[in-house]
Amino acid sequence: MTKNLFDLSGKIALITGATQGIGFSIAKGLSDHGATIAISARNPVKLEEALGKFQRIGIEAYGYLFDVTDIEEIDIAIKAMEYELGKIDILVNNAGIINRAALENYPEDDWNNVINTNLNSVYKVSKHVVQGMIEHQSGKIINICSLMSEVARNTTAAYTAAKGGVKMLTKAMAAEWAKHNIQVNGIGPGYFETELTNALQKDEKFNSWLIERTPAGRWGKPEELIGAAVFLASEASNFVNGQIVYVDGGILATI
Ligand SMILES: NC(=O)c1ccc[n+]([C@@H]2O[C@H](COP(=O)([O-])OP(=O)(O)OC[C@H]3O[C@@H](n4cnc5c(N)ncnc54)[C@H](OP(=O)(O)O)[C@@H]3O)[C@@H](O)[C@H]2O)c1
Repeated sequence: MTKNLFDLSGKIALITGATQGIGFSIAKGLSDHGATIAISARNPVKLEEALGKFQRIGIEAYGYLFDVTDIEEIDIAIKAMEYELGKIDILVNNAGIINRAALENYPEDDWNNVINTNLNSVYKVSKHVVQGMIEHQSGKIINICSLMSEVARNTTAAYTAAKGGVKMLTKAMAAEWAKHNIQVNGIGPGYFETELTNALQKDEKFNSWLIERTPAGRWGKPEELIGAAVFLASEASNFVNGQIVYVDGGILATI
């Protein structure tokens, strides 16, 4: 039977930083395909609001409060989640930030914060979640990369370094954990309409450059990442490992 290849019924999924934007959409998409979803956030008010939003669209989501840079908070939350919901089958490392500044003036604190939040967090959260996956000899990890895992732009050096690192960490995790029947892949979004890109969306010059530069001629919408996420979370991708699926309206295919 191949028609149920994308069915996530009975699976428990954790999506980090999923109170809004891409994480929220991916969580909704995994739920629509049958998964029980847990979302994480570092802000209790935003977490409650997001759980309320899920409830209003008929989805029962579970919430866990932890900062993806804080190893102790991660440890406590993952233990609580496994106790309450059971083994985590699907982990989406989504939480991320960006700080834009010229590299020659880039503040060191911001540099460390971007690398910690976008790259070190993937190691920290995955390390905790993978223990249960190894025990059960199955699991799916999806790391949210970026088109900046491949290319750079002015003022985004820390982000580019972090997302390039996430791409390579994805391959390292895949190489190391494949023997436990764990598949680790990435999704590389192009430019999507979320709070992260708010300033760029409002910047007339950037906006017209992007529309001209993107073969699809527009920004992506967060729900357009659901297809790749469901594929990489499901049995349909059982022999896919260490790959990054770019969902970018064609930007990376052109110069
Ligand atoms: N939008 C794009 O065009 C684009 C393109 C390529 C890649 N991406 C990637 O996609 C992912 C999601 O981005 P988005 O566009 O949906 O951005 P967003 O709307 O700003 O959402 C980011 C989420 O991550 C959370 N977060 C940030 N730092 C955290 C921390 N230390 N601990 C826990 N949660 C934290 C945020 O929570 P708070 O509200 O508490 O900050 C927020 O819920 C990121 O990894 C981003 O780099 C986005």
